[in-house]
Amino acid sequence: MNKNYYITTPIYYPSAKPHMGHAYTSIVADFFARFKRIDGFNVHFLTGTDEHGLKIQRAAEKNNTDPLLFCNEISETFRNLSKTLNLSNTDFIRTTEDRHKKTVQHIWSQLEKNGNIYLSKYSGWYSVSDEAFYSEDEITDKEGNKIAITSGSVVEWIEEESYFFKLSNWEEKLLDYYDKNSDFISPKSKKNEVVNFVKSGLKDLSISRMAFSWGIKVPNNTKHVIYVWLDALTNYISALNYPDTNDELYKKYWPASVHLIGKDILRFHAVYWPAFLMAANIPLPEKIFGHGWILSGDEKMSKSKGNILDPLDIIKIYGLDPLRYYLIKEVSFGNDGNISIDKLEDCINSDLANNYGNLCQRVTAFAEKNCSMKIPSNKKLNNEDLKILNKFTENLPKLRNEIDKQNINFYMDFIVNALFEANKYFNDQEPWKKKNDKMRLEAIVYTALEIIRKITIMLYPVIPDSIEKALKIFNLKPADIVFETIAAHNYLKTGDDINKISILFKKIEKNND
Ligand code: MSP
Repeated sequence: MNKNYYITTPIYYPSAKPHMGHAYTSIVADFFARFKRIDGFNVHFLTGTDEHGLKIQRAAEKNNTDPLLFCNEISETFRNLSKTLNLSNTDFIRTTEDRHKKTVQHIWSQLEKNGNIYLSKYSGWYSVSDEAFYSEDEITDKEGNKIAITSGSVVEWIEEESYFFKLSNWEEKLLDYYDKNSDFISPKSKKNEVVNFVKSGLKDLSISRMAFSWGIKVPNNTKHVIYVWLDALTNYISALNYPDTNDELYKKYWPASVHLIGKDILRFHAVYWPAFLMAANIPLPEKIFGHGWILSGDEKMSKSKGNILDPLDIIKIYGLDPLRYYLIKEVSFGNDGNISIDKLEDCINSDLANNYGNLCQRVTAFAEKNCSMKIPSNKKLNNEDLKILNKFTENLPKLRNEIDKQNINFYMDFIVNALFEANKYFNDQEPWKKKNDKMRLEAIVYTALEIIRKITIMLYPVIPDSIEKALKIFNLKPADIVFETIAAHNYLKTGDDINKISILFKKIEKNND
């Protein structure tokens, strides 16, 4: 079985500082990376910034600065955000790095050599904001402007000499590939959209621009720069040192397990990217997963719409882990979602402080009084104990499987249920009334501690900082935890020390006016 896992986020445009939509993709990618790590995989987790193209050149001009200096500064805010979000990324790529430029030029030459590129003239609509070409039927009039229907961004007419990629040649092969690899485009609801687009007929794609210079030069014709999407998509393999196919990183991690992206950029990832790869004889990634948007009201949150929420503001008030928990649990993965402060506060008060934090406090406080801060005996486990412990054992394969389908909601629902049942179990068993039956009292505390251990492991990918603290109950560190052990009933060793921990989550005073 392949125990290597490669997950990527899109590389972000450093045209403005990051917002909640960017934080969302990155946090979810981090969730998968951390889950796979505790499940025994070698994980490569890539994020970065997409620094070429007219959008960035214009943003730099607006700031009266050189594009590279401009990118240096904003790319740094994305790198810092990765740290603030506690991402466990193993690389951060910038498309202005030499390692990337070399790969892009190599791919260009491969496409050219294989007869997939020709020189002609482009005339048509272009959106700088999306860095995308649109056909006549994909645009409409709005307040005297022409806009792209899907994104709402303004398009401009361009006419210039351009190199083209023979995308039309790949129509049948793409459809065949989607057909044979039913999970390649996920979720299913998004797949049809792509299939219909391809079936409606693919036109050759303009892949170079002459009107500006901020980009990677076309080999042998430096009047042209390479289209920013061909440049950007290549980051997923330039970070693995392609074309050196003997490089350890490339051998281990290509093809990628999943490219996690927002649904707005599905066409680039599910149509153009596989066509470029096929044409260059490079294997295709296993999956493209297009998630929904973080909305502001009922619109996509985006800089161009001026409706952004800065994740740092939320983190300052509520802390990072509550935000991570909220985004992972409350946004139904694959669909659009809103940030509701009210719901975020509910998550903190009810799930994190009450159901999880309080359970940890209660059980350890009880163990302190009644079990001398040691793991008690598990000799007298009864059917009720085993039933609740068994839930984890029975569900382990399903949990893994659902995670491989990016079904985060199944995973989170399982945790929320398990917390509910664990609290109910401790209440119903009333260990405080079992002082005359020490062995039974100990079995209840043992069971409760085992459940806490299992849930704590499961919460690690969601709220890693808080879990690092919670693991101290069992003298464990994040590096020690193994997902598989949620199936064990007797992982904790009778007689081992346990520790008290400080309060994990403070409740929020809710203003209900
Ligand atoms: N640079 C391109 C991606 C190139 S990948 C080879 C790009 N950059 S972006 O900065 O505009 O957006 C990157 C990603 O950020 C989106 O695809 C999406 O994953 C995420 N989001 C940006 N706004 C978002 C929301 N409002 N909601 C959720 N995610 C969104 O496109």
